[in-house]
Amino acid sequence: MYSSQIIYVVWAISTTVSAQLPGIGPPTSYSDKANAKICDISDYGAVESDSTNDVGPALQDALDDCASGGLVYIPPGNYYISTTVTLSSATGIALQHDGILYRNGDIDGDQILTMENSSDVEWFSGTSSGAIQGYGYEYLADGNYGIRLARFVNVTDFSIYGMAWVDSPSYYLVLDTCTNGEVYNLIIRGISVAATDAIDVWGENIWVHDVEVTNGDECVCVKSPATNVQIENIYCNWSGGTTIGSLGVDASVSNVAYHNLYMNQADAGFVKWNGASGSLRNVIWDTVIQHGGSYLLSLDGFWGDQSDGDGLEVYNLTFTNWHGLDSDNSRPTIRLLCSANDTCTHIVVDDVALWTDSGDDVTWTCENAYGSGACLESGGHAGDSYTTTSTISATPAYSTPTMANDLSTPFPFTQSFTIPPVPTSFYPGATPISSLLALTTAGGLA
Ligand SMILES: *[C@@H]1O[C@H](CO)[C@@H](O)[C@H](O)[C@H]1NC(C)=O
Ligand SMILES: *[C@@H]1O[C@H](CO)[C@@H](O)[C@H](O)[C@H]1NC(C)=O
Ligand SMILES: *[C@@H]1O[C@H](CO)[C@@H](O)[C@H](O)[C@H]1NC(C)=O
Ligand SMILES: *[C@@H]1O[C@H](CO)[C@@H](O)[C@H](O)[C@H]1NC(C)=O
Ligand SMILES: *[C@@H]1O[C@H](CO)[C@@H](O)[C@H](O)[C@H]1NC(C)=O
Repeated sequence: MYSSQIIYVVWAISTTVSAQLPGIGPPTSYSDKANAKICDISDYGAVESDSTNDVGPALQDALDDCASGGLVYIPPGNYYISTTVTLSSATGIALQHDGILYRNGDIDGDQILTMENSSDVEWFSGTSSGAIQGYGYEYLADGNYGIRLARFVNVTDFSIYGMAWVDSPSYYLVLDTCTNGEVYNLIIRGISVAATDAIDVWGENIWVHDVEVTNGDECVCVKSPATNVQIENIYCNWSGGTTIGSLGVDASVSNVAYHNLYMNQADAGFVKWNGASGSLRNVIWDTVIQHGGSYLLSLDGFWGDQSDGDGLEVYNLTFTNWHGLDSDNSRPTIRLLCSANDTCTHIVVDDVALWTDSGDDVTWTCENAYGSGACLESGGHAGDSYTTTSTISATPAYSTPTMANDLSTPFPFTQSFTIPPVPTSFYPGATPISSLLALTTAGGLA
């Protein structure tokens, strides 16, 4: 049975979100950590601008040395990395990432940086110029994949911000079973091929905001199990989209709030499953601009390979204040498709104007989904089945501001990427929730 809960993450959407959400992020400041101890990688053998010096061991030693409280410092400069680093069971650590880490050669392992079983963690750039250069094109141009960039597993009370992650040979950031975390002020830029997910999230109390992504797969993706996730001021500048899924057996996703999504050739609301079980409840997509996309607003219960679940409960999903255009009008702009095994009720499509610049009409299609708006049938009884397709020929009136310099074609595969600055705007007219740091020392200490 569904029981109603007051969830501060979702609740905060309807208020003015101007400060950190309560209870999210590291409880100890980076300056307090630096006051306790500084582990500067230069003191552990890192040599700047020397491609024969693998910074991996120095970074590992610095992380280990500060694992029970302190600030690890990667000073501004160029560092070459050829081995992975893993931080486990740390408490009260900050990683001030002001230099640029260049992937150097094939790196064995799953991802360059792993953080596991840790709490009170802050990974950030004090200069807002810290970066990882993955040189993914060296693999992706040949249809291969290399190492992922970063994975947090079972990390609580953390934040990640202020960096550029460029051209990953595979995924960028995975947050696996993490709690009370904030991810913001990031730019992720890479090649447009599959399996280059930018940010995949599952866990509890996660706030992702002020992020720009260019890649070839998920932009910011919520996976199961997840609850209390807030995603706002997201600029998918040629990307997959702000998706949910794919959901499988015993899925559990609830209380997800999206706000201010700007999609340039990306999909703001795409939920995917096939043969799932469990539930997806209480999700709102509020205030969306679409400039091209293929599955703009889609619940798709027929996506991908079928799992063994006996049906997904989809309950209380709201799409509101959406405006924009699809890419080529080859698909319905609104697709709300549940299988006969799913129970999809209380779906609301309200103030959604999605149009096309190729053609005189758009279509909406609904199947076994119940609620109000678009082509949804009201009511809803398990066992009922229907499919409706509507053709809409009245052009909606609305305005959709554009971001300056939207990417108009994907990046070429054949060359390395310039590392971009972290943007200061991620949604037209919206000011990022936190401003960029400009520290000149480790921990900003005098
Ligand atoms: C998660 O990390 C904490 C330490 O922060 C540890 O006590 C706990 O056992 C870990 N849980 C799992 C499932 O790994
Ligand atoms: C994290 O904790 C779990 C549970 O104690 C353990 O199985 C796992 O090996 C730990 N991970 C690391 C990297 O130490
Ligand atoms: C529906 O979901 C919204 C969040 O999107 C939540 O605020 C509301 O309480 C939920 N309503 C019910 C009846 O569960
Ligand atoms: C419904 O579930 C049954 C098994 O529980 C499965 O065989 C069937 O393919 C499912 N139907 C659809 C439309 O997914
Ligand atoms: C979108 O991506 C393109 C290509 O990287 C870039 O030139 C442009 O500045 C980006 N737009 C914004 C507003 O950041």
